[in-house]
Amino acid sequence: MHVLVSGGAGYIGSHTVVQLVAAGHAVTVVDSFANAKPSVIARLNILTGEPIDVRSFDLTDRDKTEHLFAHEHFDAVIHFAGFKAVGESVEKPLEYYENNLESTFSLVRAMRRHGVRRLVFSSSATVYGADAEVPMKEDAPTSATNPYGWTKVMVEQVLRDVGAADPTWRIALLRYFNPVGAHSSGLVGEDPSDIPNNLMPFLAQVAVGRREKLSIYGGDYPTPDGTGVRDYIHVEDLAAGHIAALEKLASADEPVSTWNLGTGRGTSVLEMLHAFERAVGHDLPHEIVDRRPGDIAQSYADPTKAETELGWKATRTIDDMCVDTWRWQSTNPDGYP
Ligand code: UFG
Repeated sequence: MHVLVSGGAGYIGSHTVVQLVAAGHAVTVVDSFANAKPSVIARLNILTGEPIDVRSFDLTDRDKTEHLFAHEHFDAVIHFAGFKAVGESVEKPLEYYENNLESTFSLVRAMRRHGVRRLVFSSSATVYGADAEVPMKEDAPTSATNPYGWTKVMVEQVLRDVGAADPTWRIALLRYFNPVGAHSSGLVGEDPSDIPNNLMPFLAQVAVGRREKLSIYGGDYPTPDGTGVRDYIHVEDLAAGHIAALEKLASADEPVSTWNLGTGRGTSVLEMLHAFERAVGHDLPHEIVDRRPGDIAQSYADPTKAETELGWKATRTIDDMCVDTWRWQSTNPDGYP
């Protein structure tokens, strides 16, 4: 298949590009590079052994999006592109709604006009909202607690309506839990452009000496050790989930399918800290501080639906995630050049 990967220079996108090429697919990346460095592409060329076809523009530009589809035939699209920082979305709600919705409208319009009806969308476990029961199942109600989360809820709804209006579409809504880790080569990984909001990149920057210490947000949650529990999934397992979903869409009965991509296992902040300390080989400075507003006590997937329907299962352990993150961070202390 010829697959268009939007946001293919980003963290999850780049790992998925490597696996798509390995699986024999032709790949075109479209990325605005608003939140990714161009040097990612040189790494992808090394890992795939071929020059990746890259188009550098923002999908919100409808003319450029239309022009791309008018000149290239795609069999499917994986849509990763989007703004993703929860805190920033609270500061800049209009920018988040505009960017994440308009890029999707532009893309789906061009797909429809050119008869491309196979789409994999990057959704998030954040659509289960603040009050969801664990383990989270796909049929739970959706809501959000911040503008970023609402863009995921809204795009899911838009795509469900598109599929209802024209049942020849085959759309996968993939709800990611907490992606961490890096490619085992250490050549690609997560490279936040600012101070990391998320636990794993923050820990990695503490370990490499870029941050003084980890602040653990809350030690009094109703969890086994009092710290927040999440379902961390290795980015390589997550990328494999995209390939499985893409292939499944060819034989899917329904226009729209929703799959959780998680491990089904919860890990606390303290457990993650200790696993990272094992990977690095020494203790890391940390302190327990107040809870972070908006955080929930625990979040983990029921991954049964993806396992049954996609024949896909996350296999990598928390230690694998930490070892691979540390390889990436220690060999690229300042991220991509
Ligand atoms: N945490 C800390 N210190 C930090 C960062 C995080 O203690 O410096 C804790 C959090 O309180 C939480 C856990 O580590 O208990 C994980 O936090 P992350 O920020 O890494 O991840 P979240 O679960 O908060 O958010 C992630 C994604 C969001 C997505 C959300 C729900 O980053 O995009 O999952 O799916 F919306």
